[in-house]
Amino acid sequence: MNGLTVSHLRKCYGDLTAVEDLDLQVKRGEIFGLIGPNGAGKSTSMMMIIGLLKPDSGTISFDDQPYDIHNSEMRSRFGLVPQNLAIYPELTTVQNLRFFGRLNGLSGQKLQERIDYVLHLTGLKDNANHSVATFSGGMMRRLNFGIALVHEPEFVVLDEPTVGIDPQSRSNLLDGVRELSKQGAGVLYASHYMEEVEAICDRVAIMDHGRLLKEGTIDELLDRNQAELSIEVESLPAEVAAKLQGIAEIETDDQGKTRIEVSQTLHRRDDSNRLRSVFEILDRAGIPLESLASQKTSLETLFLKLTGRRLRD
Ligand SMILES: Nc1ncnc2c1ncn2[C@@H]1O[C@H](COP(=O)(O)OP(=O)(O)O)[C@@H](O)[C@H]1O
Ligand SMILES: [Mg+2]
Repeated sequence: MNGLTVSHLRKCYGDLTAVEDLDLQVKRGEIFGLIGPNGAGKSTSMMMIIGLLKPDSGTISFDDQPYDIHNSEMRSRFGLVPQNLAIYPELTTVQNLRFFGRLNGLSGQKLQERIDYVLHLTGLKDNANHSVATFSGGMMRRLNFGIALVHEPEFVVLDEPTVGIDPQSRSNLLDGVRELSKQGAGVLYASHYMEEVEAICDRVAIMDHGRLLKEGTIDELLDRNQAELSIEVESLPAEVAAKLQGIAEIETDDQGKTRIEVSQTLHRRDDSNRLRSVFEILDRAGIPLESLASQKTSLETLFLKLTGRRLRD
């Protein structure tokens, strides 16, 4: 297969299994999102994929060739945007880009062209000759991103590149990632911001405790034809609750409030009577509604369903 293939990757730190039996495929031109809370195992996975951390077991290949960090030709096909900034603050933007470009074997005209391109892509042209020490956090993040791209990698690994970034830098960086994929690079993008992943990724995997819980296109993961309606009532007599069985889920919270959760199919007619049935049952029993809320499924609610916790807990 063209692109990256990861099979049965595993890494333990002592008793802790940081990554367990990870399988991934990311094609060239594809943006693959890895989402999970802190400690899920995203960075450990990425460090193994890029060759900076040795897996306990499992294999990594690119275009069907085993990945070998000691093979400089192969290594230069990868670019890494690390979670922690890896830039030289005492150097200027261009000096940083030149240094990392040279490390990856570029020189002369080609190096200059790539530096110009990266300055353009990251929006750092006006700061090309400024010392990085004077930069805002967002500018440093953009440079951290740019450094990974100087040598024109075919596959780019980004580990939470937008943490603590201003909105303008974030949008610049996300546009840059889209641009990479348009040019045919494969992208593995770790984040714990659901909205970013929804905005740019073709496929997504949800990771927690070192394992992938679910994987697919965003449309596959989120059944966009389902909406959840939550109806709150003061109390619900047992005989009314019995009538709602099979139509809705009933939950009582700590304050004794009862919530009736109805899942409603949109766009299709199959179970379009569910919502009406619930309202009719409540109406006939003379139960007043306290509140109504509707929610479309999002990656955030899916994550909550799969793990029982919120992504930023
Ligand atoms: N060098 C290390 N030594 C021991 N434990 C580690 C080390 N690096 C990461 N871990 C642990 O491995 C788990 C996964 O961490 P990490 O891959 O950094 O997750 P994420 O990037 O998703 O936040 C966490 O429980 C973390 O504490
Ligand atoms: Mg991490």
